[in-house]
Amino acid sequence: MSPRLLAADAAGIEAAAARIRGGGLVVCPTETVYGLAADATNASAVAGVFALKGRPHFNPLIAHVLDVATAEQEAIWPETAYRLAARFWPGPLTIVAPRRNGGRVCDLVCAGLSSIALRAPAHPVMRALIAAVGRPLAAPSANLSGRVSPTRAEHAAEDFAGQDILILDAGATELGLESTIVGVGPEGPRLLRPGAIAREAIEALTGPLPVAPTSARPDAPGMLASHYAPRARLRLDAEAPLPGEAMLGFGPVTGDLNLSPAGDLREAAANLFAYLRRLDAAGTEGIAVAPIPDEGLGEAIRDRLARAAAPR
Ligand code: TXA
Ligand code: MG
Repeated sequence: MSPRLLAADAAGIEAAAARIRGGGLVVCPTETVYGLAADATNASAVAGVFALKGRPHFNPLIAHVLDVATAEQEAIWPETAYRLAARFWPGPLTIVAPRRNGGRVCDLVCAGLSSIALRAPAHPVMRALIAAVGRPLAAPSANLSGRVSPTRAEHAAEDFAGQDILILDAGATELGLESTIVGVGPEGPRLLRPGAIAREAIEALTGPLPVAPTSARPDAPGMLASHYAPRARLRLDAEAPLPGEAMLGFGPVTGDLNLSPAGDLREAAANLFAYLRRLDAAGTEGIAVAPIPDEGLGEAIRDRLARAAAPR
């Protein structure tokens, strides 16, 4: 058995929806990265997601919905959440809020926590899939645990080689970085994960957002240091490669690959995971990464790089 790539047209989406309704898993595109989707109301299907990714069970997943009305059935939203959704949904913003009794999403999606992560994606294929299944979809990034997130269908096919799985292929994802995660619990809004929407854009609605500390946080294990890990050792803020290192450039700092020769952070975000994969696949011992400014999307890019560089 090997993964089957399907064109993301009406027939492909219907085949994918049928698989998910039957408790199966499908890799599908979103505007951020490819997701490994399962029916979020079916605990055994969700268990299959953890099994296929080889992901530790304590890591909760994002439930993908079409709109605020569906989100409301699953979570108790403070006023801030409504304002954030009005501005950023559909799109790459995930909102973590207290769960509501009587929601349809199974406990396993939330890893037993009393909060739930909800996102209304913008990608038309993902939206069509959610609509066709008629239920929220749990969808972590479609990579093996510890590998970088897939921004192309082929990346997921590589990670899940040998598995009987459908992959809806819609080409490269537009943003290339996962959604920004904001917690809106009783302690006020918190940045749980920097992502495709820059902090500044969110702060315009919420005011200053404290970052949740990276160290062992029981409610956000995705913040664990070495979550995004190529096999090669990473060295950050490098101006030039050392012997044996491949160089990942940015702006004027050139390299084997350049995240964005023009120094554009959006372009760099879209290229980040694919370029890390390419340099890693070339079997280099180490990857030196050019300095990336810590502003706008640079915060999320630096966050992913710091995790990938963490000792394991
Ligand atoms: O862009 C994205 O968000 C992609 C696409 C596929 O939608 N999905 C994604 O999912 O990145 P995943 O599972 O790789 O990351 C989900 C993150 C994890 O870091 C997890 O710990 C956090 O969301 N999370 C989920 N539920 C949570 C909760 N109740 N409290 C705190 N963090 C939560
Ligand atoms: Mg992930």
